[in-house]
Amino acid sequence: MIIFVCLTTFVVYVTWAAFQGRYYTFGPYLSPLYSPELFGNSPHSWFGAKPGWWPAIIPWSPALLVLWAPGLFRLTCYYYRGTYYRSFWADPPSCTVTEPRKKYRGENSFPLIIQNIHRYFLYIALFFLLFLSYDVWKALWFIPPVGGTDAGEESFGIGVGTIVLAINVVLLGGYTFGCHSLRHLVGGLRDRLSGAPIRRRAYQCVSCFNRKHMLWAWMSLFWVMFSDIYIRLCAMGVWNDWRII
Ligand code: FES
Repeated sequence: MIIFVCLTTFVVYVTWAAFQGRYYTFGPYLSPLYSPELFGNSPHSWFGAKPGWWPAIIPWSPALLVLWAPGLFRLTCYYYRGTYYRSFWADPPSCTVTEPRKKYRGENSFPLIIQNIHRYFLYIALFFLLFLSYDVWKALWFIPPVGGTDAGEESFGIGVGTIVLAINVVLLGGYTFGCHSLRHLVGGLRDRLSGAPIRRRAYQCVSCFNRKHMLWAWMSLFWVMFSDIYIRLCAMGVWNDWRII
């Protein structure tokens, strides 16, 4: 029940936030739900404003162009699969609980066999880590208010938002680097790792993150949502970003 409530809350909030299309930036901060901003009106946009080919019947939001990738990465995650199969439709009801059916099909047939696409979303997720790290770098450079003597020149600084975005990258990194597919990629293909010291080391590193994959999954899930809330409320003027440096 707790997992059901937490995952439902996350999905509802993220869907709502993705369709807002505003209040997703504040100063040098960009909400991770909107990153990378391929098209949009903020200074973070890569290719300019809303594209002309965007269908008129779909509300415009830059998040809709990118959020599918991290969303499907989580949806197909081996850990989340186990947990939402149990909590959303009780199939299986729990570990070691007998199933009422005669034949166990697992994920070997349609539609659940599609979950094997997870390894490809891992490759995309690794790129997203780079984009989010770049956002942290950009969150270190503040533009002074218009009218000041140094208006227009970026200056180095650290705000609470910078730290929020940095923690987000650390938690998402811990989650992504512990991915079962990554573990297979770096070491699982070999029968003997002793003859490949670099791969062995990489395998040990991924295994180390993998042991706490569930914890990283929940912490990063919570924090990515909180990061959006933080920037959204700053942009709406509900609370102020505290500048540390
Ligand atoms: Fe969870 Fe790949 S298994 S992220």
